[in-house]
Amino acid sequence: MKTYKLLFVCLGNICRSPSAENIMNHLVEKEGLSDRITCDSAGTGAYHIGESPDSRMRVAAKQRGIDLIGRARQFKVSDFEDFDLILAMDQDNYRNILNADREGKYGNKIKLMCEFASHHQEKEVPDPYYGGPEGFNKVIDLLLDACSGLLEQIKSEKLIIDK
Ligand code: 4NP
Repeated sequence: MKTYKLLFVCLGNICRSPSAENIMNHLVEKEGLSDRITCDSAGTGAYHIGESPDSRMRVAAKQRGIDLIGRARQFKVSDFEDFDLILAMDQDNYRNILNADREGKYGNKIKLMCEFASHHQEKEVPDPYYGGPEGFNKVIDLLLDACSGLLEQIKSEKLIIDK
């Protein structure tokens, strides 16, 4: 069976994408699939490189039993080769990733995270940075839904990803 390398991408890599990475790792470990699926995250922006996940995001994740670990890094062009699937949190992230693909070779590896949610209607994971705690809780709920949908798709091998 194939091992999938997943990269979750947002703007700052301190709120949404580290949450997605750690939630997915949590679900993957729970199902004993750590040898089949590996996760990382990155930001399209450079403002927060080296920082830990945002403390407000850590509080929201902890309330659902998930610790957020990792340090922010910026998305880089070599990620297109290094990962099987790149999951953008919103349309801006999606466009910025596509723009980094100068030769248009990797479009089929880039997907919007909300495609995998089945209990939420949102098309994007909303940026919680300038809002209150409810925005951070919303991010966690949405990502729990989308990550479990993504995991089901990988398990059923329905995801067709060209290398
Ligand atoms: P993230 O959230 O993209 O989910 O990590 C943000 C983090 C920082 C900023 C915006 C969004 N910022 O403007 O610094």
